[in-house]
Amino acid sequence: MSPDAIIVGGGLIGLASAWRAAEEGLSVTVVDPAPASGASAVAAGMLAPVGEVDYSEQDLLRLNIASSRRWPAFARELEAASGQDAGYRQCGTLLVGFDADDARVLEDMHDFRVELGLEVERLTSRQTRRREPALSPRVRVGIAAPDDHQADPRQALRALRRAADAAGVEQHHATVVRIDQDRARITGVTTDAGERLAAPTVVVAAGAASGQLEGLPAGLGARVRPVKGQLLRLHSRNGDPVLGSVVRGIVAGRRVYLVPRGDGRLVVGATQEELGHDTSVTAGAVRMLLDDATRLVPEIDELELVEARAGLRPGTPDNRPLIGASQGLEGLVWATGHHRNGVLLTPITAEAVAAVLTGASPDAVLAVADPQRPAVQPSTTTPAGAATGDPP
Ligand code: GLY
Repeated sequence: MSPDAIIVGGGLIGLASAWRAAEEGLSVTVVDPAPASGASAVAAGMLAPVGEVDYSEQDLLRLNIASSRRWPAFARELEAASGQDAGYRQCGTLLVGFDADDARVLEDMHDFRVELGLEVERLTSRQTRRREPALSPRVRVGIAAPDDHQADPRQALRALRRAADAAGVEQHHATVVRIDQDRARITGVTTDAGERLAAPTVVVAAGAASGQLEGLPAGLGARVRPVKGQLLRLHSRNGDPVLGSVVRGIVAGRRVYLVPRGDGRLVVGATQEELGHDTSVTAGAVRMLLDDATRLVPEIDELELVEARAGLRPGTPDNRPLIGASQGLEGLVWATGHHRNGVLLTPITAEAVAAVLTGASPDAVLAVADPQRPAVQPSTTTPAGAATGDPP
């Protein structure tokens, strides 16, 4: 029997949407060749509406804050449903500047956040180091962002797979190549093996691969582009955490972030590169990330480097996500294009998908992610990447 909905993509967004929809009583199949192994498994997992707010992307702030506030309850419910740690940690974030120029940039960032009414606190070099003693004495200045936290995406993925299983979600291991339709109505999907899976509703949650699906209305899917991010995973040999909070640094004008897991594991990221579907790890990126990270925290030199990996963020022409029902093709639902905010936006996206699938109204804050907005329509001339904003 056909499910009520097929979800294309088994990353955080797809699995969370499937779990939430199944909890609402729908039958759901997730189709992914290797669930939980794409960009979600590479991401650092910063929940950073304050740290990531950008001059060109202010309109995303309300959505990001709304999802950040949902994370504690989302994690609690996920833990209850899966019996596993969902990876959510309230640890706060420090934004730090390395030299005098970096300190000036940070000063502007502070003032901009104050203007937006966000919770931030300016710290001297001494106050910053009192909070994080491992920081180099050369760090000039800091800003505390106490409401920016983190969720370990790999833990969240494990918990989601378990919760989705328990809720009756089926996982089908295949690559969807085409969304099938008949007279402007969804009929299902076709996989690379030529198999046809029928369903009246299809949710596109395939991250950067969403842009490669055939059959989407007027090429809208092709407006999703891959934005490569290279990250490192390190580990302290004795398991002692190097840092207590997330640290986002500006080092000689470059952005770097350090995300400690609380058990000696540390994620360092990330590059932001527009190179198509390329997930190679380059020596230059590893060197740059390590250089910048060790300038901020010299003892990183002593850590074991356990992984270097690249993931592909799904960017859109205005770098806002696509969340909600398509008006051009009945039964098509978008849940992609989350760019730098996939982990952060998982709870609100899953809630929105479940609402669309059950005929309820999604939260009004999702208007910013409307798939019908002019900026993402193929007829507009906005060049891909025009609103990319600052590199990380
Ligand atoms: N949100 C962090 C990143 O995309 O690198």
